[in-house]
Amino acid sequence: MLGINIGIDLGTSSVIIYVDGKGIVLSEDSVTAIEPKSGRMISVGAKAYKMIGRNPDSVAVTRPMRYGVISDFTATQSMLRYYLQKICGNRIFKPNIVICMPSTVTSLERRTLLELATSSGAGRACLVEEPLAAAFGAGVAFNKPKGVMIVDIGGGTTDIAVITMGCISVSKSIRIAGSAFDDDIIRYIRRERNMIIGEVTAEEIKKKIGCAYMRDAEIAVQVKGKNYFTGMPSYFEVSTTEVFLAIREHLEQIAESVREVLEITPPELSADISETGIILTGGGSALHGMDKLISKKTGVRAVVADDPVNCVARGIGCALKHMDILEENGYLFKTREDINVSPGQESILL
Ligand SMILES: Nc1ncnc2c1ncn2[C@@H]1O[C@H](COP(=O)(O)OP(=O)(O)O)[C@@H](O)[C@H]1O
Ligand SMILES: [Mg+2]
Repeated sequence: MLGINIGIDLGTSSVIIYVDGKGIVLSEDSVTAIEPKSGRMISVGAKAYKMIGRNPDSVAVTRPMRYGVISDFTATQSMLRYYLQKICGNRIFKPNIVICMPSTVTSLERRTLLELATSSGAGRACLVEEPLAAAFGAGVAFNKPKGVMIVDIGGGTTDIAVITMGCISVSKSIRIAGSAFDDDIIRYIRRERNMIIGEVTAEEIKKKIGCAYMRDAEIAVQVKGKNYFTGMPSYFEVSTTEVFLAIREHLEQIAESVREVLEITPPELSADISETGIILTGGGSALHGMDKLISKKTGVRAVVADDPVNCVARGIGCALKHMDILEENGYLFKTREDINVSPGQESILL
């Protein structure tokens, strides 16, 4: 195939791009700042993230991906076009792109993703399930008949999957992950402390002192917020226990879903998992004590993968090198023409 090979982890929180032969070349927040009147993109990525909660009415700052799927096609397209242009410049041949999708997408969502990739600069595009890529990124062998469980805790969704021989055996996706924790913290602080904080501050608190399992020592951070009653800005302290209490219910639900997937896993694969352990990936798995929580609730050892945030992108990098194996399993590159098949022929795509 002509053109460079690129892998894209298009997440709810971040976009990570891998170029074959180079490695990860771009890691940006999945945020756009657009002027609704003209449709002009003012800013994208980390710069747009800084505008969250600080934007004037004339600028709409949004996360174009929600719960792992495209929620604003035009904004996602503008964001991707911008990044691909930055990476590819004016190359003659368009790149071949492997892009990640959640394991439970509908055929319409698949089609939309392919359309997005080919309209944003890809010559050919291929979709690979995120947990599969996460497994490759965590060093799982491609086609071995051995069960591996991946729990990818991202921004919008937690994807749980059991993989064997390069395919997904059982999977489940729930809309509880990093962003749900941020919302929990905002709600808890308003209810218990009568203070209002923004989304960015809540995320900072979570990363600094959040925990999925009670820490041995109490720690706290100084936070800037706004008094709910007076409307005046002020500083106050938030403790790690408060954050734990705020997010506890959602943590339980994640652990419960992991248990549910283990329950429906075929016995041989289940035995493999108890031997190798559960692999945790995604930014949310970096929450202090997440491995301990999952281990405790399932009775199976859980380990956080190396560099969990970049695991999916690194995995797509591996997939790019082994496209022949993936093709044998039905993962094929599609061109724009393939996608625009006439109604009734959609099965060609899937
Ligand atoms: N050290 C950390 N502790 C807790 N949460 C974290 C940490 N680092 C990142 N996160 C959270 O991980 C989520 C993003 O993970 P990521 O895998 O990039 O998501 P996505 O694939 O959905 O884009 C965010 O909610 C972010 O706040
Ligand atoms: Mg992800």
